[in-house]
Amino acid sequence: MPLGLKGGPGPGGRGTWARFAAQPQVIESGFTYDDYQKTAEWLLSHTKHRPQVAVICGSGLGGLAEKVTQAQVFDYSEIPNFPRSTVPGHAGRLVFGFLNGRACVVMQGRFHLYEGYPLWKVTFPVRVFRLLGVDTLVVTNAAGGLNPKFQVGDIMLIRDHINMPGFSGQNPLIGPNEERFGVRFPPMSDAYDRDLRKIAHKTWKQVGDKQELQEGTYVMLAGPNFETVAESRLLQKLGADAVGMSTVPEVIVARHCGLRVFGFSLITNKVVLNYESLEKANHEEVLAAGKQAAQKLEQFVSLLMSCIPPPHSAS
Ligand code: HPA
Repeated sequence: MPLGLKGGPGPGGRGTWARFAAQPQVIESGFTYDDYQKTAEWLLSHTKHRPQVAVICGSGLGGLAEKVTQAQVFDYSEIPNFPRSTVPGHAGRLVFGFLNGRACVVMQGRFHLYEGYPLWKVTFPVRVFRLLGVDTLVVTNAAGGLNPKFQVGDIMLIRDHINMPGFSGQNPLIGPNEERFGVRFPPMSDAYDRDLRKIAHKTWKQVGDKQELQEGTYVMLAGPNFETVAESRLLQKLGADAVGMSTVPEVIVARHCGLRVFGFSLITNKVVLNYESLEKANHEEVLAAGKQAAQKLEQFVSLLMSCIPPPHSAS
């Protein structure tokens, strides 16, 4: 009998496997509404901060949390239900406070599919943020540049994304829909807020950086390996400008529960697009590039905090 088919149909009879196969297969979310609520209530009872904006820091970009004033810090390990971050460059701390006067909660370290977390765990904090009263999510990540115009150290404002894992059935919204968060079939054509993107461009000019603020499409792969040459070429043909292993699940869940979203990719390496190249992507390079460009991104994101209008009044 093949592995995994124990209890299969015996000769002439309907065994366990046949009965199992006849059942509709429902994927459990893993967390109930109650679980999200309990975590949110725990946080609200342990801090006086009431954040309006949540920021998720990508690999090597956790330095933004150091800019938070009146900071109150929680280790993920002390927060009920919170997963743990297992990746170097992701500290695993939730920081409440103010960024340039804006009440914020900053995730210093996120969760990834490649760590083995199901997407309902990867995205758990986003729904908790919603229940804390957050209305806007800022996502940041380290990404490989697919667009030939991009240089290492560039910042790309995310205009759109391609959910590659979603093409093979990995989507955080799969399973019973929790109507208290959002609708069964949420649109994603406006995932990255147009008004906030305009504000980001205006603000970039104020920073006075000669470097252009790039804008483009982020494609998520599950990882953890970096792409083959053929895969990178495919992604480029699909219209992606930058590739990474995160962000998209959090954005989908954020949009599902009505958060405004905008985000940035820090281009930490150029992906290898030809077979003659001796370059190889590696995580140390990603972290090093993050360090160099981190100050620029930190200054920019923190300046943006004072420019974000309340929802529905962006101009
Ligand atoms: N590919 C995937 N993820 C990444 C890369 C890359 O080249 N750089 C940083 N994160």
